[in-house]
Amino acid sequence: MSAEDQKRQVGEAAAALVEAGMVVGLGTGSTAAWFVRALAERGLDISGVATSLATADLARSLGMRLVELDDVSAIDLTVDGADEIGPGLSLIKGGGAALLREKLVWEASRRSVAIADGSKVVATLGAFPLPIEVVAFGHKTTSLRICDALAECDLGVAPRLRTRDGAPVRTDGGNLIYDVACGRIEDPAALAAALKSVTGVVDHGLFLDLADLALVAGPGGVTKLEP
Ligand code: 5RP
Repeated sequence: MSAEDQKRQVGEAAAALVEAGMVVGLGTGSTAAWFVRALAERGLDISGVATSLATADLARSLGMRLVELDDVSAIDLTVDGADEIGPGLSLIKGGGAALLREKLVWEASRRSVAIADGSKVVATLGAFPLPIEVVAFGHKTTSLRICDALAECDLGVAPRLRTRDGAPVRTDGGNLIYDVACGRIEDPAALAAALKSVTGVVDHGLFLDLADLALVAGPGGVTKLEP
């Protein structure tokens, strides 16, 4: 089965978790897009909270009703992709530069489900470069402070500004993304705390203690992983 078929399969499995009347967080990325399409196909009366402008565009094009995060008291269920799924459902996210809105939506959710093809499951986080969202003002100076934070965690690696077509990638909030090829993240919680302590860092792609369930597709079908 191709990776794309696997993404479709988990997208459909996650859409089956949604019930009429729910407020649903809509993730970002190619796997989450399969979820959004499968959910739209079910035709349920739900309200969606999009985690990016791209997802909002997709959801609207499929006729889904969208509401703002600030217009709901809570989100019943969020379904989103992941770049890596590690032990205890620790995640790296942000490959699509939407980590800040994604984390805001996940944290407002009663239940969050990560969906991915089997290639994303790892024994130790860090092979996928960790995205860090920083404010544009003084970002080079901030990247030096990020180096200090990484060194505190025994990670002697340099953050790289994410670019596309020669220009820095801007997030939906107008911020920049630095990617850090950590290799292995032995202590994700310590790294998360060190990065959050840097002024200029808006947030990072470590999603710890946030996922309640992961649906992972493989050749034998969809497997459920719990923390
Ligand atoms: C976007 C994300 C995505 O969910 C993550 O990058 C996975 O994307 P894909 O399903 O396309 O592999 O975190 O910021």
